[in-house]
Amino acid sequence: MPRTAVIAASLATPATAPPLRGDELAATAFDGPGGVAWDDEGALVYAGPAHALPWEPTVGSPDRGCLVPGFVDCHVHLPFVGWRADEFEARLRGVSYRDLHGSEGGIFRSSRLLREASDDEVLAFCRPLVAEMAAHGTTAFELKTGYGLSIEQELRQARLARRLADEIPQSCSITLLGCHAVPKDTDRADWVRAVCDELIPAAAEEHLVDQADIYVEDIAFSLEDLEAVATAAARAGLPLRVHADQLGPSGAAEAAARLGARSADHLNRCSPEGVAALGDAFATAAVLLPASTFFLRAGAPPARELREAGSILAVATDFNPGTSPVLSMAEAIGMGCTLYGLPPLEALSAATANPAWVLGMEDRLGRLSPGLRADVLLLDGQTFAQAPYRPGHNPVVAAWIGGELVAGDPARA
Ligand code: NIG
Ligand code: FE
Repeated sequence: MPRTAVIAASLATPATAPPLRGDELAATAFDGPGGVAWDDEGALVYAGPAHALPWEPTVGSPDRGCLVPGFVDCHVHLPFVGWRADEFEARLRGVSYRDLHGSEGGIFRSSRLLREASDDEVLAFCRPLVAEMAAHGTTAFELKTGYGLSIEQELRQARLARRLADEIPQSCSITLLGCHAVPKDTDRADWVRAVCDELIPAAAEEHLVDQADIYVEDIAFSLEDLEAVATAAARAGLPLRVHADQLGPSGAAEAAARLGARSADHLNRCSPEGVAALGDAFATAAVLLPASTFFLRAGAPPARELREAGSILAVATDFNPGTSPVLSMAEAIGMGCTLYGLPPLEALSAATANPAWVLGMEDRLGRLSPGLRADVLLLDGQTFAQAPYRPGHNPVVAAWIGGELVAGDPARA
């Protein structure tokens, strides 16, 4: 690829290496035109005020647009197959997410759809979604299992995730969510034992997954199950993620911090003790998922309190067919700003550098900084704040991954 320089009216990027918390969270934005340059291998060599670019920019305009790092979506339930719009309608009529879960809908429904589809059908369903994510500026993301609900189907879903990851331009990290729902006609303790003794070791042995996750909730798994999964994940060398305090308070945030999980996600019902634990946590991020809050009409998590306590904040989509059919990070960021009160430049770091750290990719991507990959977005607003300010609008003019154009058209700048 040719070495390249891009110019825009502004540039914003997290300034220092993650994990970022408190006042470090605010991304740096320069006054006046900004520019980035990358070499012929797609590695950034410069990001900053445009006047100091190492060579003439051939892309963009000093009067328009904003350069930012590619969005990193660290909580995504792909691969899945099939939508559940009828459940959405049922919820609008007053049926709860818990009710749907109890009646073979929800996760069980997506599990059946996955089981009934061929591998090719699943991949054919996912590919356009992944392209849509690129068009909306997601240049790295997580893939999760969790719709398998049997050892065999969970391993199949992880293999499908790996196949998908291998054929798309984005960087992916794969998470094994073996404990997502208790399979029908199965004793919970038996399933947790199977996940810990068979599934996690088998998936790790085959190098299928990079992290392990568990859904802690009264309709799903307990704190005791979390301990067991944490032990099995540690034994397999997999960082731990936790779906924590989404529908009800369970103490999962505190447990995630105590167990050194990489993240506690959702947190809508996180207690003051959970906030304090995540604020003090050395290495456990608080992953906020405002699109699922919006979609379930749930109460907001204590986002400001988490910010003030000093927790490592990330914002992600939770993209899935049940609680968040939203794949746009700009939309998630916008909801994070509007529903949770995040300042846009803090939300930017929470959508780039910090989630890169959650996925263990921070040495390669997540900031506009020399040496990192040229995962770059040219947005159409004059400043980054224009993106969360305009929900429903895709702000991405062009997206590059490792210096390759993957979506949009820079000539539109
Ligand atoms: O993160 N909370 C549990 N899991 C998903 C929803 C999965 C589904 O409904 O299919 C979530 O919201
Ligand atoms: Fe989730």
